[in-house]
Amino acid sequence: MAKQFYDLKVSKVLRRTKDAVSVYFEVPSDFKDAFAYKAGQYLTIKLDKQGVAERRAYSISTSPINSAELGVTVKEVQGGKVSPWINNVLKEGTILEVMPPLGNFTFDINSSNENSYVFYAGGSGITPIISLVKTILHTENKSKVLLYYANTDLQSIIFRDELESLAKEYSNFKLVHILNTPDSSLESEMGRIDPEKCRKYLQKDWDNFDIQNSEYFLCGPSGFMSQVEIALDELQIDKKKIHKESFTVEENNSTKSTDSSSNANVTRKVKVHIYGEEHEILVKPDETILMAGIRQSLDPPFSCQIGACATCQAKVIKGNVEMEADDALMEEDKIDGYILTCTAHPITDDVEIDYDY
Ligand SMILES: Cc1cc2nc3c(=O)[nH]c(=O)nc-3n(C[C@H](O)[C@H](O)[C@H](O)COP(=O)(O)OP(=O)(O)OC[C@H]3O[C@@H](n4cnc5c(N)ncnc54)[C@H](O)[C@@H]3O)c2cc1C
Ligand code: FES
Repeated sequence: MAKQFYDLKVSKVLRRTKDAVSVYFEVPSDFKDAFAYKAGQYLTIKLDKQGVAERRAYSISTSPINSAELGVTVKEVQGGKVSPWINNVLKEGTILEVMPPLGNFTFDINSSNENSYVFYAGGSGITPIISLVKTILHTENKSKVLLYYANTDLQSIIFRDELESLAKEYSNFKLVHILNTPDSSLESEMGRIDPEKCRKYLQKDWDNFDIQNSEYFLCGPSGFMSQVEIALDELQIDKKKIHKESFTVEENNSTKSTDSSSNANVTRKVKVHIYGEEHEILVKPDETILMAGIRQSLDPPFSCQIGACATCQAKVIKGNVEMEADDALMEEDKIDGYILTCTAHPITDDVEIDYDY
């Protein structure tokens, strides 16, 4: 069976703001290949919390240009099971179980590229974005990078010093802070982002900026991302140029009914290909394919369990399934038959899926 988790020692815990810390890992030389990563990807950390194994995804906030560094940055969610522990208890020297990097919020960063990139980060959504920004600036000297970074106030800005140093060092990088509560010590745009402001900023912030042909990267709270998406839609930006990473799934996006008459009260058999083996599992009416696979000891890969990360992705070979949420899948993946097993229910009796695809 493929190894899913590796023991990594925490080499440093660095406080960034009053409710966010960066956690750095020591990667032994035997694990270097497994932990090679692309800017924008995430790690999954597994923790035992009161006898229950919890898994959480955290975007890598370091850049692969410095291969010696691997770290994530975690914002404390009040009342959460994992992020308060990471913020307030986790110490240097602790061994954590970590899954190697995954994720599609990446780009083919290449020294011959001559692109323009626009990044929209809201709060802790800066984590994958700082990795992408640093990697692009270091690698593509002919590209332009524009970053809009929205925060509640001055004190909540993660990586402020590092971003401002990058803005000083690279003339092809423009950083625009957006603060709900402006502060006289920092030049910023004011208030919550909305489509009108988003369009206005974009049209004024850089002369001759190629708005239509830029690549757009969005990561932040769902309300923030949907406002930016409306603006990009109004500007008729090609959807293929819009890349999104969500840390949570909005209630509205995760309530697709699976109570269709084809599914109600029916336990179905599903054939599963995983780790080079074939298994037949029973999926109860109230179970997802992932839950049934875990219950029947297949040890399938997963992280968020809410349809936000795609760690649990598999390909449908036969039959039909219905997903409660599919935001983490790219359009071309959906067309090619990929599903998120953590939100998927079989709706026919002949479903066969492949995790190994
Ligand atoms: C692909 C991916 C990448 C991620 N990268 C990062 C990252 O780089 N940094 C980071 O801090 N987090 C990141 N997250 C979010 C992270 O995985 C956890 O969801 C978060 O730390 C909360 O976990 P918890 O155990 O503390 O809270 P939980 O016990 O899971 O949740 C407690 C309550 O808070 C709500 N909640 C959960 N997550 C959030 C959130 N992000 N904002 C507001 N409310 C929330 C839940 O709905 C629940 O009601 C990422 C998530 C995904 C899917
Ligand atoms: S486990 Fe994250 S999308 Fe399924």
